Amino acid sequence: MSAPASTAHVVEVTDLHKSFGDNHVLRGLNATISQGEVVCVIGPSGSGKSTFLRCINLLEQPSSGSIKVGGDEVTDPDCDIDGIRRNMGMVFQQFNLFPHLSALDNCTIAQTTVLKRSKDEARATARENLEKVGLSEKADAFPAQLSGGQQQRVAIARALSMDPKLMLFDEPTSALDPELVGDVLSVMRRLATEGMTMFVVTHEMAFARDVADRVIFMDGGYIVEEGSPDQVIGDPKEERTKTFLQRVLDPTHVDPGAEDAAYSKRHIAEATARSATPPLDPTAFPER
Ligand SMILES: Nc1ncnc2c1ncn2[C@@H]1O[C@H](COP(=O)(O)OP(=O)(O)O)[C@@H](O)[C@H]1O
Ligand SMILES: [Mg+2]
Repeated sequence: MSAPASTAHVVEVTDLHKSFGDNHVLRGLNATISQGEVVCVIGPSGSGKSTFLRCINLLEQPSSGSIKVGGDEVTDPDCDIDGIRRNMGMVFQQFNLFPHLSALDNCTIAQTTVLKRSKDEARATARENLEKVGLSEKADAFPAQLSGGQQQRVAIARALSMDPKLMLFDEPTSALDPELVGDVLSVMRRLATEGMTMFVVTHEMAFARDVADRVIFMDGGYIVEEGSPDQVIGDPKEERTKTFLQRVLDPTHVDPGAEDAAYSKRHIAEATARSATPPLDPTAFPER
């Protein structure tokens, strides 16, 4: 008997390394994504999240390690990378729609050119997916006539129109005005409920907490911590995860001790520059 679909690995990453010149960006990542699973990747800017995601569909060439997608080794030079990529939808922070094509045409063009579907079939699929993202009535609108949130939903409909087995999202809501974020997240939430396998780099902690089956926290090119959202976001084990979460969950948080120390240091430095004798008590300096 074959393994149940829920345990099949759609993606299997083993000891993935990536360097740009001497910048060693990914330092030995191991991860799996199972059929129907939603995996959210969180972590500070520059930690390698986008590079990780881009290696999965070979937008970046890994330096070493192995990546299997649906059992096919994408790092094998003989693999059918176009065939493998066809099964992956990718949604970026910038929506990357064709500006000269309507929402409908944005959703049909790859279906006819890549999948060789007839125009009618492609249009029908596109309309279905525009409806799914709540934009049936915008089929004829051009990207410039749509809000950022609407453009991103067209980008999602476009990806879905290729019938992907896996959807990769790279911070799909970070370029949006705050009031437009919710619509995009609800579309993603619905996809997750329908059983789409999703790999999502996001800063939306509430979304990750609610929707993810698993959360991966990355820092400095490593997977520092991984587990259920309740564990990683609710009760992180690692100090680096705690510091990151404190910063993103409460950006107004300041450490008063650290502020005072920085203030004193600044004043002592200024005083030292002005006089040969540094003051012992920085508060002795008058306010300016
Ligand atoms: N195409 C590239 N060429 C050179 N360096 C890159 C490239 N893409 C990413 N990097 C570097 O890799 C590191 C990780 O970047 P990235 O994966 O974008 O991080 P994140 O998505 O977590 O913010 C950064 O130091 C970045 O400058
Ligand atoms: Mg990024």
